[in-house]
Amino acid sequence: MTTISRSLAAIITLAATIAATAHENTSDPIRISTDRTDLIMHIDPNGRLYQAYLGPKLRHSEDIVRIPADQYAGCNGAVSFRDGEMYPSAATEDFFEPAFAITHNDGNTATYLYYIDSQSTSVDGGTHTRIVLRDKVYPVEVVLNYIAYPKENVIKTWSEISHKEKRPVRLSRYASAMLHFNRPEYYLTSFHGDWADEAHMDTQKLMFGKKIIDTNLGSRAAMFAHSFFNIGFDKEPQENSGDVLMGTLGWTGNFRLTFDVDNAGNLRILPGINPYASVYELKPEEVFVTPEFVFTLSENGTGEGSRNLHDWARRYSLKDGDQPRMTLLNNWENTYFSFDQEKLSGLMEEAEKLGVDMFLLDDGWFANKYPRNSDKAGLGDWEVNRSKLPGGIAALTEAAKKANVKFGIWIEPEMVNPESELFEKHPDWVIMQPNRDTYYYRNQLVLDLSNPAVQEHVFNVVDRILSENPEVAYFKWDCNSPITNVYSPYCKDRQGQMYIDHVRGLYRVLDRIKVKYPDVPMMLCSGGSGRADYEALKYFTEFWTSDNTDPIERLHIQWGYSHIFPAKAMAAHVTSWNKNTSVKFRTDVASMCKLGFDIGLDKMTGDEIEYCRQAVANWKRLQPAIMDGDMYRLISPEGNKHMAVNYVDKNRQSAVVFAYDIQPRIGDKLIPIRPKGLDPDRHYRVTEINLMPGTESKLAENGKTYTGDYLMKIGLNLLSRNHAHSTVVELEAL
Ligand code: DGJ
Repeated sequence: MTTISRSLAAIITLAATIAATAHENTSDPIRISTDRTDLIMHIDPNGRLYQAYLGPKLRHSEDIVRIPADQYAGCNGAVSFRDGEMYPSAATEDFFEPAFAITHNDGNTATYLYYIDSQSTSVDGGTHTRIVLRDKVYPVEVVLNYIAYPKENVIKTWSEISHKEKRPVRLSRYASAMLHFNRPEYYLTSFHGDWADEAHMDTQKLMFGKKIIDTNLGSRAAMFAHSFFNIGFDKEPQENSGDVLMGTLGWTGNFRLTFDVDNAGNLRILPGINPYASVYELKPEEVFVTPEFVFTLSENGTGEGSRNLHDWARRYSLKDGDQPRMTLLNNWENTYFSFDQEKLSGLMEEAEKLGVDMFLLDDGWFANKYPRNSDKAGLGDWEVNRSKLPGGIAALTEAAKKANVKFGIWIEPEMVNPESELFEKHPDWVIMQPNRDTYYYRNQLVLDLSNPAVQEHVFNVVDRILSENPEVAYFKWDCNSPITNVYSPYCKDRQGQMYIDHVRGLYRVLDRIKVKYPDVPMMLCSGGSGRADYEALKYFTEFWTSDNTDPIERLHIQWGYSHIFPAKAMAAHVTSWNKNTSVKFRTDVASMCKLGFDIGLDKMTGDEIEYCRQAVANWKRLQPAIMDGDMYRLISPEGNKHMAVNYVDKNRQSAVVFAYDIQPRIGDKLIPIRPKGLDPDRHYRVTEINLMPGTESKLAENGKTYTGDYLMKIGLNLLSRNHAHSTVVELEAL
């Protein structure tokens, strides 16, 4: 930060402090509000803080004080107790999953938190409320934080835990927040999968007891499960109706989502870092800041919930959420590790032919003593491989300039191959068991990011590339291994810190990169999308949605992720996966997200190349709708018959409908596609786009004009019984 911006920040902080409103009367409820949601808490006569209400916004403030105090009482059976505390500790009279647990210096495990005070201040886009809670017996403090974003109907919450005991306390639970619900039934949709099989959605009814979704993978942490979910109240989550909660935790490491239904049928939700193997020794005065949990409540199903999150993400969270995205040509699927300067220069010319903005060089460009010619060696040695690329990165950026495209480059700086100079020099920088055989995942090991020296090394990988080659315009940052051989040489006898400090070390590096190079976009990749969360996405402009680019699989994967992330955050490339489908079909599927290519033009006919050029130009023109507009999921790909979505720009001036026939059966009924979000009173011209050269649209509606009302109620006949067939229609308001 410069001196001027520092003083500016100080003035802003001062102004915010002056504008802060304190909550003085403890008999008044605390109200966290968006335009459509209220979260209301009250301070009980016992001095502790309880949730009074979380639901659709209350119209009359007089109603707020009338909410009964025992909303969440666990009093159905013999045991009657007070439920609904905002941040209950272990070893109290709260008998279900606690939000946090501390072992104090004297070995006692109970903490009771009493309300001290709270303040609200205005922040970018919303209001930040800080609520201070403190124990009376032990010097332990928890600050609960809530930022309410009124327009987007999103609330972000996290906690800060600290103490003034003489020696470190042992923290064994540290949820980001706790939310309570008192409804007849709860249905949880979780998102899970595997490499090349991401974002599967499964819905189950929550019954008495705990359902836990978590990960112990450390890095590449979301390979099997994602840190987000939907809850349907009273029935399974529906797209356009019903009450739903959609939540997502920003943590790029081990997370845990706990859904605990108690004896009275109340549900408590606890998102947070996974305490697995992570009893954290918190020093006196050190503040343990939990990850942020972001949620939205919708009374109109998951469609509206997704649009809330998309708007919020683009405005306040995703890196460069308000900036356009670059289309690109990547070389991974085309060349793998086998390339040289000449080949890459040729591909840059291909990028120019396609009309994309950038050429992205993938894995294999580095290391000399142990050349990176496969995934077995070289990781860690970030010097250009002189035999493949004698002119270095400079020659590549030069060639890109000649081809009128920007140049981006792949790195995986958190990892090391044992066959590398880095490993030879710094074996102590690697997470590895000192006294056992080593297990390798993709022939590599994870660097110990809890170690500041390793953080410096990882920062320097990026810093060196960018300071020596300021023309480098983009990074693809990969992460292909979970943490294996779990032992941090840096944490030594405090191994409980490792998983958490490792992630914090990563954020420290990313922070420095963002400060020094704020304008360099980066793709978050993790062997596909083994990382996809909103904390990482503060540093990354998009994530690699999956290594699986079979367009049929992608329809499902992109559908899943679209629940939480806007299209702008999801990279999708046209490749040679599933050659049984046409280049048009593959491109139309990738066009629903941030469009790119990873295919040699030698694998396409002249018509296909021309088709792709047109599709790129169409996509660029339609960015206000696809990247920055509202998305409506119209037909789910479940069942593999059809899939359809539409995007509408914020002025409702232009829209695009993507309709896909996957594998419908001969007798299947074809229903008209009714786009949503249009202006009912305007007229829209219907134009089929993304047509192969020489083909004409067969749509009866093509070239005609309809009111938005007609289109939304009567619809367009875009579906067919063909297999792997797609139709893309642009709607332009006149
Ligand atoms: C895994 C990524 O998901 C791929 O796209 C590619 O970059 C490879 N790593 C390179 O090793």
